[in-house]
Amino acid sequence: MIRVFLILAVIVTSTWATDYLLLPEDADLYVPCTDGPPGSVNLPEAFDMRNIKIDQDGEDIHLTGNCTSVWSVPPTDRIDARITVMRFDRGTWQPTVLNIHTSNLCSVMFDKNQYWYKFWFKSFSNREEMREKCIGTKGTVLTYNNFTVKPRLNNVIGPTLHGRYKAVITFEPFDENNIKRPLSVCFEVRGYIEKIK
Ligand SMILES: *[C@@H]1O[C@H](CO)[C@@H](O)[C@H](O)[C@H]1NC(C)=O
Ligand SMILES: *[C@@H]1O[C@H](CO)[C@@H](O)[C@H](O)[C@H]1NC(C)=O
Repeated sequence: MIRVFLILAVIVTSTWATDYLLLPEDADLYVPCTDGPPGSVNLPEAFDMRNIKIDQDGEDIHLTGNCTSVWSVPPTDRIDARITVMRFDRGTWQPTVLNIHTSNLCSVMFDKNQYWYKFWFKSFSNREEMREKCIGTKGTVLTYNNFTVKPRLNNVIGPTLHGRYKAVITFEPFDENNIKRPLSVCFEVRGYIEKIK
């Protein structure tokens, strides 16, 4: 009996689509990783972010301008990219099931079926140049359209999200011999998740 109830409870909670609001914790959005790959640098060390403007109006976040790569990774490198969502629970960051990974960011960033595109790269306007040089060639300018982030997650199916979360974003370059370069980029976006309905 208890078992049947548990199974039902799991089915009910996991088919209930929920909408969430994300409230960023830092005005800058990105902060250095607390536990990044050895020798990794924060976003503003790999990309000159001085021409990026971030405005918040109500719950919407507007991002405009451009950033310039100072990272200096050869365009023949493969960039392994990962977004790992973690939840703050009783004083420590715990992993969740929410992760996005690609072993070759440059080959998927403008693929319309990929989350990388839907959530992020669709807002870059100079795609031809980026396709050719990807994001690691020193001096490459990445131009943002006036990009409005609606910090909402709609119709999420699965266990209820609630509380303080962070997304850890890592870029790790590998050379032509598949050897990892000591040039990783790691940054975090932290915030709170609130249920809307
Ligand atoms: C980048 O932004 C700055 C400041 O808005 C602007 O002066 C510059 O022309 C932009 N560069 C490109 C390549 O769009
Ligand atoms: C970007 O667009 C929003 C409205 O969508 C507007 O309020 C904001 O002023 C725009 N920012 C720039 C720099 O054009």
